[in-house]
Amino acid sequence: MTYDFTTIIAREGMDALAVEGLGWGFGPKAPKEGFDFIPMWVADMNFPTAPSITRRIVERAEHPLYGYFLARPEYYQAIFDWQKRHGVSGLEKWQIGYHNGVLGGVASLMKAFTAPGDKVLMHSPAYIGFSHVLEDLGRRAELSPMKKDADGVWRMDFEDMERRLAENHIHFAIFCSPHNPTGRVWERWEIERAMALFEQYDCVVAADEIWSDLILPGHVHIPTQSVSGDARRRTVAFYSPSKGFNLSGLWNSYSIAYDRTLQDRMVKQGDMTHYNSLNVLSMHALIGAYSEEGAEWLRQLLDVLQGNIDLVCDFVRDELPGVTVSRPQSTYLVFLSCDGYAARTGRSMDDIISAAWDVGVGLQDGRPFFEPFGLRLNLALPRTRVQEAMRRLKEYVFV
Ligand SMILES: Cc1ncc(COP(=O)(O)O)c(C=O)c1O
Repeated sequence: MTYDFTTIIAREGMDALAVEGLGWGFGPKAPKEGFDFIPMWVADMNFPTAPSITRRIVERAEHPLYGYFLARPEYYQAIFDWQKRHGVSGLEKWQIGYHNGVLGGVASLMKAFTAPGDKVLMHSPAYIGFSHVLEDLGRRAELSPMKKDADGVWRMDFEDMERRLAENHIHFAIFCSPHNPTGRVWERWEIERAMALFEQYDCVVAADEIWSDLILPGHVHIPTQSVSGDARRRTVAFYSPSKGFNLSGLWNSYSIAYDRTLQDRMVKQGDMTHYNSLNVLSMHALIGAYSEEGAEWLRQLLDVLQGNIDLVCDFVRDELPGVTVSRPQSTYLVFLSCDGYAARTGRSMDDIISAAWDVGVGLQDGRPFFEPFGLRLNLALPRTRVQEAMRRLKEYVFV
């Protein structure tokens, strides 16, 4: 079966922050008259999800009792089977933790293993959600800037990481793999070096692997916990079908921990909130996602995303002088660097972003990601919408 990634589906009035949240938080403002809005900010997709998921939710919804429940063995089995895609086998039920969201899980782990005022190491550019969690919990971010190498590939700076870990007595790190917003899929040697540092400085590691379903062709996701026995012990890895299958509104994340102390103390933090519980329809959504049909849908999605990413990266190179992009290896996000363009034209980022929003290109400001000249674009839209957004950027914004 061939799935539909071309129909433009109206999301207005159907519970979508991406189109109803204009002016919300860091969100875009409404376009000027004459332009429709192209949502390229919130990290969800403008594609209908895999039919196996909808079917599963509808089937369960038709049984009209929604009382308290225990997660089915099938739920755990679906997770165990799905994790085999990344070479993870032998999982046991106690190693799985439930979290309403990946950020909630990261927060629980952080609460268990840091104190207010403590510094937490993470890389920049950094996903905005991490900053919010740190701020809300009274912890402080210690940012280790990533650098582009001679080929334009974003890399960790291991010397910088080590200096910051040592100088700040840091014992907790957030490791985003694959990395949002750069789309890096870390190579094994990179993860090994990072984990060796975390071992040396005795850090608990929150490995956020929420994007690991969206690995683009030619790249391989290496689970952080798989690189060494020590990494397996000191890391909790977080997952969700939300990114790969567009299920963010269903709140449905889980973690894997192999160390009983990490697991027990993190789960306790989640339990103590008294509202960190799996939703019955979300459970069925996960089972529908982590299925044979879900896997096939995902395979087709990745081809579409690769096409959109190639289109945008080629367009930026050929048509937007002074703007650069490092080709993502995962996700549906591209992170543009506008420093060359801003230096050449003297235009500010406020000016550039406002010009894009005026013509309905709902991209995201890179500054909250700690990248002064960055712009993040979500490309999980039908190709015609991506083409139209790029046309508008060339014609009205990067002039
Ligand atoms: C790296 C990363 N982690 C976590 C999240 C949010 O996950 P959740 O909605 O499950 O809290 C996102 C959403 O964009 C993300 O990019």
